[in-house]
Amino acid sequence: MEQTARIYQDVCKILVTKEEISEKVKETGARITKDFEEKAPVMVCILKGAATFFTDLMREIDLPVTTDFMSISSYGSATKSTGVVRVMKDLDRDILGKDVIIVEDIVDSGITLNYLSKMLEGRGAASITIVTLLDKPARRKVKDLVVNYSCFNIPDEFVVGYGLDYDEKYRNIPDIGVLKPEIYQGK
Ligand code: IMP
Ligand code: MG
Repeated sequence: MEQTARIYQDVCKILVTKEEISEKVKETGARITKDFEEKAPVMVCILKGAATFFTDLMREIDLPVTTDFMSISSYGSATKSTGVVRVMKDLDRDILGKDVIIVEDIVDSGITLNYLSKMLEGRGAASITIVTLLDKPARRKVKDLVVNYSCFNIPDEFVVGYGLDYDEKYRNIPDIGVLKPEIYQGK
């Protein structure tokens, strides 16, 4: 898709291109395949933002993985974390004794993942591993959160595309871009 396409009209700058994403997803999948040799981890997709990354990543992992989906919310339609984490949809299967790989779109304050990893640990997972597409280290509030695989570190800007939204829009942009501030200012 050309960057003059209609879906790009509210984006001021492309931060990561689809080609860069694709290369990094392959590399991350290969690393996970090697690190989890002989294991059959459960890949947990954090809906909805991570869905695009998740489906690409799982096809780069050469292991007998199983998949499950969870929906957690720490954001309204605003661009700042409220610190309130709600489980909207829980996992379908038990994770007792399983190696769990949490797949997230972006780690910002870290509040969401910190809450989630503690919760899954409490259910008796054998191990918890965190994979994120994007990381905004400058905004971290939970300093001791361990992110095991991070594809791209990005500056403190609100981004959309490749699954990430603003007010449920822009998820279908193939790259990751910075949203024009006038779109969310005053909201
Ligand atoms: P945290 O709890 O502050 O780490 O928030 C993580 C969640 O906030 C992610 O799963 C995203 O849904 C959302 N989020 C944080 N920054 C952005 C952004 O730049 N664009 C879109 N969503 C974001
Ligand atoms: Mg989100």
